Amino acid sequence: MTTVSDPLPRHGAGVVLRRLSVAELAAFQSYRTDAELGRYQGWSAMSDGDACAFLDEMSKAPLFQPGQWAQIAIAEPQTSALLGDIGLYLAPDARVAEIGFTLARHAQGRGLGTAAVQEALRLIFLSTAVECVKGITDARNHASIALLERVGMHKIEERTVEFRGEVCVELVYVLKRHEG
Ligand SMILES: CC(C)(COP(=O)(O)OP(=O)(O)OC[C@H]1O[C@@H](n2cnc3c(N)ncnc32)[C@H](O)[C@@H]1OP(=O)(O)O)[C@@H](O)C(=O)NCCC(=O)NCCS
Repeated sequence: MTTVSDPLPRHGAGVVLRRLSVAELAAFQSYRTDAELGRYQGWSAMSDGDACAFLDEMSKAPLFQPGQWAQIAIAEPQTSALLGDIGLYLAPDARVAEIGFTLARHAQGRGLGTAAVQEALRLIFLSTAVECVKGITDARNHASIALLERVGMHKIEERTVEFRGEVCVELVYVLKRHEG
């Protein structure tokens, strides 16, 4: 349930982080069904029915539950139009968080993803006691690597994994609390 202590919305430079809503199914599907955006992501495109149920669940999901992901919206501050989304994960021991992000193509190239992730990092460090936040990306995902480095994260690990039946290299980036 969304409560009075809900930490959203939060305003960043040119973006607002807010709850996702079932009412924005069309906007959500317009970028979540873009195969190129999902290429290196843990999620796959959903049917409209599944996306609707997902948006409903995320519109009221409690944030920062150990062992769970929650997805929040990146929106345009004036119109509240959906630009993308951010996944927030808290490890079962609540000592580490992880972040994932997606921006619709029309919103890319303006620093909005960077601003949204910077604001999400602030939100994580304010709302939890985690020691660090991780961002994990495919080594071929140059836009994601550039964003992670722009927000001050540094690479701590390079590992070979199998993803969707393909062997690939995954990079683990981290931002520690005192660096945030
Ligand atoms: C990762 C992703 C969000 C990055 O999007 P992006 O638009 O490149 O990132 P930003 O919104 O931060 O914008 C950065 C770009 O805007 C430019 N820019 C303009 N004004 C800027 C500003 N004030 N601050 C920062 N960058 C600015 C930067 O130079 C950069 O452009 P460049 O790539 O040509 O150098 C996007 O590529 C995406 O959604 N990819 C698919 C999903 C995915 O793979 N996510 C990562 C999984 S971990």
